[in-house]
Amino acid sequence: MVKTLEWTEGGVRLIDQTRLPTEEIYVTCRNYGEVATAIRDMIVRGAPAIGVAAAMGIALGVRDSKAKNYHELQAEFDEICRTLAATRPTAVNLFWAIQRMRERFEQLASGSLEEIKRALIQESQEMYAADIAACQTMGRNGAVLMPAAGGVLTHCNAGALATCGYGTALGVIRAAVEAGKKIHVFADETRPFLQGSRLTAWELTKDGIPTTVISDNMAGAMMRIGKIDAVVVGADRIAANGDVANKIGTYMVAVLAKEHGIPFYVAAPWSTVDLATLDGDHIPIEQRSSREVTHLAGKQITPDGIRVENPAFDVTPHRYIAAIITERGIAKAPYSESLPALAVEAELQTTSANR
Ligand code: MRU
Repeated sequence: MVKTLEWTEGGVRLIDQTRLPTEEIYVTCRNYGEVATAIRDMIVRGAPAIGVAAAMGIALGVRDSKAKNYHELQAEFDEICRTLAATRPTAVNLFWAIQRMRERFEQLASGSLEEIKRALIQESQEMYAADIAACQTMGRNGAVLMPAAGGVLTHCNAGALATCGYGTALGVIRAAVEAGKKIHVFADETRPFLQGSRLTAWELTKDGIPTTVISDNMAGAMMRIGKIDAVVVGADRIAANGDVANKIGTYMVAVLAKEHGIPFYVAAPWSTVDLATLDGDHIPIEQRSSREVTHLAGKQITPDGIRVENPAFDVTPHRYIAAIITERGIAKAPYSESLPALAVEAELQTTSANR
């Protein structure tokens, strides 16, 4: 399995996702500013991977701080968190990870600076391992929903490259294949950044999972001729009512799936669920550079000066979603009841495990 990101003594090591699939190049971010740039420039991308990269960026910034006491370190810590939080607004995993690192930092107020540095590195490593475990559990939970044999459409890349390993939507597909299901994946190309054709196709092919790339405008036709039995995608933020923000174009796929009676599933770790956001209208949508639309592989493909829209994400209303697959279990409509119920159940499990 590809190593999307990892903590090393020299810094945070990332596979450069802007160079895939033709070049497998790793870059090392030697300070938190470089981690922030890597997130903004999508060298590392995908909600869970962004969150853990940011946590490692915080650990790196704190480790290399020259602060002489907790008070000085706290000022630097705040600046590090501000810089990382300003990179990409939609994936809630980023803010979840920063908050978790902040809570750990505050718990350590009475410790030595060395203890704080060690503990924050440790915390980011635990988040890394927990993300892989969550993907594997989510995969097992969702595999039962996949057809025994048939076509499964996915949009963008919600795979090992978007997480610390295994993937969310692709984790469900991987687990289904491991359970003996005969799945053929249809990967939407996912304009403008091409995460589907460049990244999903790359990692599934590496795993020997049969995959066909289609351009985004082919999805409806594939459904109409019966090639698609289910859709599974990832998420960048899931609101309390079950509305889901995911890569631009996801909404279009969900509407098409409903029209054709095809189940549309969302797979995401609990760190993507944002019960504090009431519905999809309250999810901030990142707007990216028009150059991603006007240029393809460095070549201009639109007339000079043309107006362009480039929202990186859209919102799929909950009524299109057959189930939300998480490591805590599967939520179904009404999501405003099933999502909080999963939250409570997990709290109870943690409490009884700690007794
Ligand atoms: O802009 P990106 O590539 O970071 O967007 C990624 C997606 O939209 C994914 O589907 C989502 O983050 C889930 S990844 C497990």
